[in-house]
Amino acid sequence: MEPDASWTGSMPQVYDRHLGPAVFAPVAADLGARVAHLAPHRVLELAAGTGVATVALRDAVPDAELIATDLNPAMVAVGEQRVPSARWQVADALDLPFPDRSFDLVACQFGVMFFPDKVAGLRECARVLEPGGRVLVVTWGDVARHTFSSALVTAVGRVLADPPAFIARVPHGYDDPRALLADLGTAGFDDASVETVTVTGHASSAVDLAEGFCGGTPLRGELTARGDLEALTRAVAAEMTAVLGEGPVTGTMEVHVGTGTRPHPGA
Ligand SMILES: C[S@@+](CC[C@H](N)C(=O)[O-])C[C@H]1O[C@@H](n2cnc3c(N)ncnc32)[C@H](O)[C@@H]1O
Repeated sequence: MEPDASWTGSMPQVYDRHLGPAVFAPVAADLGARVAHLAPHRVLELAAGTGVATVALRDAVPDAELIATDLNPAMVAVGEQRVPSARWQVADALDLPFPDRSFDLVACQFGVMFFPDKVAGLRECARVLEPGGRVLVVTWGDVARHTFSSALVTAVGRVLADPPAFIARVPHGYDDPRALLADLGTAGFDDASVETVTVTGHASSAVDLAEGFCGGTPLRGELTARGDLEALTRAVAAEMTAVLGEGPVTGTMEVHVGTGTRPHPGA
């Protein structure tokens, strides 16, 4: 597995505890509202991670069949504890273990940026959707329009002479809504559109966020390659506190929500 897409050991727990409520849950609430409006019956979630968005999907469509998948078994192990009413499965989004036309909605929050071939992943979404089925793909916008990520990038740059680039390269590396729109069209979706929204997140402190980013994302491997992880996390936390201030912090985060419809044959 590519290091950029690997969550192992304690990473899922750290991610879930320190980043889940502040960074991912507010976006999941937006996703859940969109899904409730569509009222699907058979839902597939890709890159479900520890289940932050799965909770919102479950609440949005309590009676729907819900299958939650992720590439990393350690993520799935946490997710299935959190949302046992979903069926959990390890699956690579680029090679889904489901027949054609199995679902009427595919949702993916902050996963597509990790796909080595985004169009191939979106084509897999189209394949497993029935005609008329919808895809919902959520990506991060510009890192400069994400209070917490941009504070992290500033902090890491102050701490290390050769700062790791994971955050800008991967989670924020697919931040152009025109690219997402074009890729949805290339993958075969009709009526593709991308809406950009700004979501607000709250964290208990900048230290909390630093622990999440440094220990609960693949940034961890890049930091470990440069020095002692605990010492680097403390230094990054101090610099993030200098940027964001002491105590509880509030941030805004730009998000792109792409959608499209699998066409009917001959349409
Ligand atoms: C930033 S997390 C997002 C998790 C969750 N959707 C959320 O919003 O909290 C990215 C997730 O993408 C998963 N992932 C990366 N590459 C993947 C792939 N090719 N197929 C499926 N999942 C993948 C990772 O394992 C990780 O759980």
